[in-house]
Amino acid sequence: MSKATTTGLILAAGKGTRMKSDLPKCLHQVCGVPMVKLVADNMISAGVDRVIIVVGHGGEAIVEALGPSYLYAWQREQLGTGHAVQCALAELGEVEGTVVIACGDTPLISVDYFKEFLAEHNGTCTLSVAHLSDATGYGRVVVENGVATRIVEQKDASDEEKQIRYANAGMYCVDGASLREALKTLKSDNAQGEYYLTDIVSYLSESSRAVKAFISADPSILLGVNDRVQLAEANTILRRQINERHMRAGVTIVDPATTYIGPAVSIGQDSIIEPNTYLEGSTVVGAGSRIGPNCKFSDMRIGNDCYLFMSHGYEATVGNGCRIGPFANIRPKTVLEDGVRLGNFVEVNRSHLHAGVKVNHLTYIGDSEIGEETNIGAGTITCNYDGYKKSRTTIGKNVFVGSNSTLVAPVTIGDGALTAAGSVITDEIPAGGAGFGRARQVTKDGWAERRRQQHENTPE
Ligand code: UD1
Ligand code: CA
Repeated sequence: MSKATTTGLILAAGKGTRMKSDLPKCLHQVCGVPMVKLVADNMISAGVDRVIIVVGHGGEAIVEALGPSYLYAWQREQLGTGHAVQCALAELGEVEGTVVIACGDTPLISVDYFKEFLAEHNGTCTLSVAHLSDATGYGRVVVENGVATRIVEQKDASDEEKQIRYANAGMYCVDGASLREALKTLKSDNAQGEYYLTDIVSYLSESSRAVKAFISADPSILLGVNDRVQLAEANTILRRQINERHMRAGVTIVDPATTYIGPAVSIGQDSIIEPNTYLEGSTVVGAGSRIGPNCKFSDMRIGNDCYLFMSHGYEATVGNGCRIGPFANIRPKTVLEDGVRLGNFVEVNRSHLHAGVKVNHLTYIGDSEIGEETNIGAGTITCNYDGYKKSRTTIGKNVFVGSNSTLVAPVTIGDGALTAAGSVITDEIPAGGAGFGRARQVTKDGWAERRRQQHENTPE
């Protein structure tokens, strides 16, 4: 491995006792993404050659949630942040070049900050420091002339040291060989009985290797999440940053305080996002679309000039010029082509609706293919499940499905055909044909009138 290599280590093995949670702390989400994934992705985007996540407590859950595209090292027993790095280095073997260390619970460190920090590093070790008005909870950094000489943890700090406003952000850039050497000297004779990574600073400093303090102008970037109050704080900050990015790029966000957009979402120019709207995961929204109020969409592709309101959807595709809602539910593997309309209380699942299809009221469409310009009447149900297996409904173009039709799959309706309102359709209807699947009406003259009189003449 060349000298220029940088290895990223993200510490995520701790239990996160202060979260009071069964979920490992680093899997708690900020803007819909596990904290540790935010840190890892930003580190990777900043150009770190390889990133290793150190897992331990709840490690299986972290590996399962993040998947095989990340590298992991194990700290089986959690004896402190220094011990976590020792474990990772023991697993990695020879590490040359620079090691960048960050914590999995500092989710706001941006790609730009990582880049600046890496660019700033030129000696043995650089430490990221936040200058805070109140540094309670953080390790306090003793800084002299831009050089960090020592870090003292909150629990070990004297009253005087607690006044220090330089907080350790838990991020280090350090020469691999010096790191290895410093780690060997760690002791656990402190308030928490742990091997603190922070102690490498005094060791390096005492052995004449200056630790540069990289003091942040925007300390919110370095927020460490230890409890759920800080989790909410991190959500608020990141949400605001994401919303501002979209607004600056030409998206109207009517009420940023109630608009929840994931970091990976993209939105085209002149789209309008109305209040109480969630756009999550890999959702892409085209230009000139209006979404909300009260929408929640995850991993969706939504085209240009659409209007979606008070609706929900995930893992589905919506073409251009579609009008969805209120109260539509678009489920996975659904494709709505251009100009489709879904109205109130319409659920579409694993179905392909071609251009101009209208499904305006109270309908379930599952495992179906519906041709261009077909109109699905109010209350139509595709019966795609017989209790054992799912079957398909195929409907041609320009079909008129009468209100309250029950389409029992597998079934096919040809182009230009119709079904009579209230029909139960079990057999194929050829193109241009009509399906009547209902009992013929019996009309009895005077029947209702006689019934009413009978009631009125009967004593209580
Ligand atoms: C740590 C720093 C503190 C700093 C703060 C920044 C130490 C001793 N203290 O404190 O100076 O101000 O971060 O946010 O380093 N972890 C492991 N294995 C362990 C223990 C922890 O992987 O055995 C991981 C945790 O999962 C977490 C990170 O290391 O992601 C930091 O641990 P945490 O317990 O949150 O440390 P802090 O008390 O916040
Ligand atoms: Ca922490």
